[in-house]
Amino acid sequence: MDFKTVAAKRRAVNFFDEQKEVSDTLLREMVEIAAKTPSSFNLQPWNLMVLKDADAKGRLRKLAWDQPKVTEAPVVLIVLADKSGWKEGHATVEKNWKEMIAAGSMTAEQREWFLNAAKSLYGWSDDASLAFAAKNTGFFAMSLMYAATSLGLSTHPMDGFDHEGVRKEFNIPDNYWVPLLLAVGYLKPGVEVNPPKWRKSYDELVVSF
Ligand SMILES: Cc1cc2nc3c(=O)[nH]c(=O)nc-3n(C[C@H](O)[C@H](O)[C@H](O)COP(=O)(O)O)c2cc1C
Repeated sequence: MDFKTVAAKRRAVNFFDEQKEVSDTLLREMVEIAAKTPSSFNLQPWNLMVLKDADAKGRLRKLAWDQPKVTEAPVVLIVLADKSGWKEGHATVEKNWKEMIAAGSMTAEQREWFLNAAKSLYGWSDDASLAFAAKNTGFFAMSLMYAATSLGLSTHPMDGFDHEGVRKEFNIPDNYWVPLLLAVGYLKPGVEVNPPKWRKSYDELVVSF
């Protein structure tokens, strides 16, 4: 499927086939395609919780405006944005520096510079840390949706949920903000997806000041 087709085919699907599981292999492939998403300094400040269990999805649905797709989709991802994903000592941050040094894209001496740069960009306020996490994880979430579409899966992103309720119910640590839930599965047979919705045109998008 070329990208134009993937972009046109991806829709927020409301009705999932409850009888059709998403295999672990396909889910892994989808996530690994999305893992190619770019991020600030390649810090990849995102994680996923994978919910398949009916009880877990039921608990999530109660906190997500009772949206039926939360339990009807075979898989629901809680997408996590790591606000601390730029800090010295964070496992991914440290791994990233090591990988960059090993790949020759950074010298050991440059490590301090990178750490200070990340701190000055993302650590100067809580808002800056949240923006860092949310912006990068938003790109990742979009990749998840396009990857799913390219593999014949359907998705539905949701921010209609009680953020603090979800964090509490699923023991999500304080360093994470939850930008969205993502239902993943197959379109219910016999259901027609609504016609594509309007989008801003090029002329509506481009502004000047
Ligand atoms: C971050 C985000 C959160 C969303 N939250 C919800 C939601 O909680 N419930 C819902 O029914 N749709 C939700 N949507 C779906 C949007 O309404 C939908 O993507 C938009 O209307 C465009 O339709 P399309 O995705 O089919 O092109 C959300 C979409 C995004 C990107």
